[in-house]
Formats: sequence, structure tokens, C-alpha cells
Amino acid sequence: MVDHKIPVILDGDPGHDDAIAWVLAKSNPNFDIKAVTSVAGNQTLEKTTYNAMRVCTLLGIEAPIAKGRNKPLLAQLITAGNFHGESGLDGPKLPEPCMQLEELSSVELMSKVLNETDELVTIISTGPLTNVAALLLAHPEVKDKIGMISIMGGGLRNGNWTPAAEFNIFEDPEAAQIVFTSGIPLTMCGLDVTEKAIVYPDDEKKIRAIGNQVSTIVADWLAFFFKHHEQLGWSGSPLHDPCAVAVLLKPEIFTIKDLYVQVDTKGQYTRGATIPDWHGTSKQQPNVRAVLGVDREGFVDLLVEACKVYDDRKVEIQ
Ligand code: RIB
Ligand code: CA
Repeated sequence: MVDHKIPVILDGDPGHDDAIAWVLAKSNPNFDIKAVTSVAGNQTLEKTTYNAMRVCTLLGIEAPIAKGRNKPLLAQLITAGNFHGESGLDGPKLPEPCMQLEELSSVELMSKVLNETDELVTIISTGPLTNVAALLLAHPEVKDKIGMISIMGGGLRNGNWTPAAEFNIFEDPEAAQIVFTSGIPLTMCGLDVTEKAIVYPDDEKKIRAIGNQVSTIVADWLAFFFKHHEQLGWSGSPLHDPCAVAVLLKPEIFTIKDLYVQVDTKGQYTRGATIPDWHGTSKQQPNVRAVLGVDREGFVDLLVEACKVYDDRKVEIQ
């Protein structure tokens, strides 16, 4: 029996790994998903919004869905079609949305949820931080209602979009800087952990063997995601976004270190880099819980158990 549920806002740019992160989030009885907000990133806002609605239909997430920002705060939008395909979620057929979009923007819906919810709200952001930063700029008064922001973003030792910067942060470094300097408790799942959260073809087979509609689609998403990573020489897929959910569900399988991390917005080669103060030279207090490692098998087990939760769910797919 769940004693009390944690109010959660899911913010992302689905995206295969965002979608699998939401499979994890919805499977957990401790989460009360209050809102879903889409952001441009992996693909254009139109596509990530449509994908968000389809994934929520597939999973039975009944929270309001609001369209977020269609470009970074200052920079021009770059999309990652090479990883996620033209639709942003290529691969298996998905159900058409069963809901209408919220009239409110992502900022207004997030603000409404934060004002109406008595308990502190957790925001799980798995895309560029544009929506979260826009919320903090427009409604600074809601800051104290946010208990934790858990992100997939950054890399303390390397990037994946440039040598120095990870995609989500590189997409909108100004937004990331606003979030990293907000003083709100921040859990950062950067490439340091997500490139260890590797799902191999054998793991995909294990998930496919579960045999329900969601597990079959998750296996198909993994197969699509792996196709591109295999071409890059990976022997499995680094499952980035689900780490931002898993670390809240099962922190004991992760290695976490409090660190002071700065976001570079000006560097010629390092714009979008997340720079850790490993030795305290800045004399600054830590601003993030940096997630550095994971028990890979434990992570895969979590995914498998999450997929089994959907055994009794099946929606119509034309
Ligand atoms: O660098 C990985 C991140 O970029 C993930 O969130 C993925 O979905 C893409 O948005
Ligand atoms: Ca993402």
C-alpha cells in the first residue's frame, strides 16, 4: 500500500528514451503524475507534442498535456533526427492520442499544478531545460513549491553532441544555467551515469519476452534506438532519460556525489559544457546531486519489472 504519492511533472522531448522514462514513471504507484509538458529538442515541438500525447495514450497517463517552448531561450533549435527518426519516435506504430491538448502553455500548466498542489512537486525533465527555465523566469514565486528537479542532461567528463557538451544542455545552455543556479534541489543524470546504463540486445529480448503491448513497443523502441548506436560502434544503447526517473525510484543502485557544477554558455569549444568542481576550488556549495554510476543489471531489472506492470493494458492501434 502506498502511504503517500509524490506529485510529479514530466517534461521532455519524446524521443525513444523519454518515452521509456515515462514507462518507468507511470509504472510506479508512488508517483502521482500531475502534468506532462513537451519541449522542442529531439524533434520540433509539433512532433514531440504529438509523440507525448501518443505515449500518454499508450500508457494510460491521464494528466493534462501542455505544449511547451518551440525553441531554446536564445539559441536556434537543433534537432536530433538522426537518433530518433523523422517523427522523433520512429519504429513501432503507436495509438492516436485519446486526449485534447491543454489550452494552457507548459509554463502556465506547471505554475497551476505547483500552486494547486499542497505537497512539494518533483519535476522530471528529460529534454532541453527550456520549459523549466521559462517557468522560473515567469513565475519565480513557485520556486519554493518545487521539491526536486531530476534531469537527464550534461556530462562531467565529456559530451555527446560536441566533444564538451551533451545534447540537452547544448540545445539550451542559457536555460540550463538558470536551472543550475536556481537553488532548487537538482539531481543531474549526465552522461557519466547514462553511458553506463547500457541496454544490450539480450536485455531487449528479455523485455520482448514479457509479451504485453507496452513491453513489445518498448522492445521495438530499443531495437530502433540500438540501430543508430550500433552504427556508432556501441554494443548496446545508453538509455539516458530513464536514469532521471530510476534514480528517484531506486537510488540505492546509483552512485551519487554532491558537486558544484557550472554551465558554460560562452565557450568557443565548450558552450553547453557542465563543468564540475571536483576539488572545491571555487569554494562554492554543491548545487547538484551528480549521478555518477549505476548497477547496470539492477537498472535493467527495474525496466523489466516496470514493463510487467502493463500486463493487463492494451489500447487500440490502427
Ligand atoms: O543526450 C541525450 C539526451 O538527448 C536524451 O534526453 C535524448 O532524448 C536527447 O534528448
Ligand atoms: Ca530526451
